[in-house]
Amino acid sequence: MEVDVLRFTRNGFGIWVLFIWISVIGSVFSRTISMDPDPCDSNTEMEFYKLKQDQITVLINGYSESRIPLLQSIVASYSASPIVSSILVLWGNPSTQAQVLDQLFHNLTQHSLGTASISLIQQPSSSLNARFIPRPSIDTRAVLICDDDVEIDRRSLEFAFKVWKSNADSLVGVFPRSHDFDLTSKGWMYTVHPDKYSIVLTKFMMMKQDYLFEYSCRGGRKMEEMRKIVDEMGNCEDILMNFVAADETRAGPVMVGAERVRDWGDPRNEGGEYRDGEEERVREVGLSSRRREHRKRRGRCIREFHRVMGRMPLRYSYGKVVNSVGEQGLCNKAGKLVFCDQR
Ligand SMILES: *[C@@H]1O[C@H](CO)[C@@H](O)[C@H](O)[C@H]1NC(C)=O
Repeated sequence: MEVDVLRFTRNGFGIWVLFIWISVIGSVFSRTISMDPDPCDSNTEMEFYKLKQDQITVLINGYSESRIPLLQSIVASYSASPIVSSILVLWGNPSTQAQVLDQLFHNLTQHSLGTASISLIQQPSSSLNARFIPRPSIDTRAVLICDDDVEIDRRSLEFAFKVWKSNADSLVGVFPRSHDFDLTSKGWMYTVHPDKYSIVLTKFMMMKQDYLFEYSCRGGRKMEEMRKIVDEMGNCEDILMNFVAADETRAGPVMVGAERVRDWGDPRNEGGEYRDGEEERVREVGLSSRRREHRKRRGRCIREFHRVMGRMPLRYSYGKVVNSVGEQGLCNKAGKLVFCDQR
């Protein structure tokens, strides 16, 4: 009798070990071939208490092969920070050859500076919605969504995380924009205000992981329709995320001041460094027609999202949170604003 019981428990234990082993192997495989199960399956949503609270996951969108050297430098810089648990490079260009991606992955891991793990994920389509897909490998409460053309200094990154921790339901960003109501056309529009904002861009957007689910999986038919608008416009996924967060918090995002930002996507910023806010004032003066077109398109997104949602959730915020230790003066050097210690 006793022997039987013993044999039973031994077998049970063996099966249990085998089961664990299979699930471990299974998870490793699913990561390498990047065929995650249904991202919206609630079983794949990591339980809240298991998520790391003292680190972030960085999701960087990559698309342009010409920007690969810049992407590498950005990934290396994020990987140097101890608050970064892992970096997921989401490659959204389906026509990039596998060889290039292999080489890129090799280079990314070669140049990583810290302990952050680095993955390169080939997106199944070029849909901009794919950057917000929840992924089982995201094991932190906070995620940072960013682009492949913005470099931010490490102290500002860590400061932004500190700010996010005390505003965990808000979007925390560095690049603010606004919605507004245009009295002439009697419609919503997209703009920049000098003193208030209601949108932060995905050039740098920190938020709780839950918003990935809110954006991609919840919200029923209305969210589905709005995600479709993003695909049709080939734009505005960042605005929609601001709608999602503002709708939950009934409040605007939080803007943090960064010490040093390089925005390579901004043609006015060739090689120069600037303090955010300064950039906006310069921008207002001479809007190129391309920019005007861009702004119009973004305004259309806001009107469409408003139509589908049936209300305007965006709220204004005022002012920005700054790390006073890092404040530096800006000096004019040959007509360019630079940090005074660089003169
Ligand atoms: C990888 O690094 C090598 C050597 O620095 C460089 O020649 C190559 O262009 C890089 N390729 C990619 C895809 O990152």
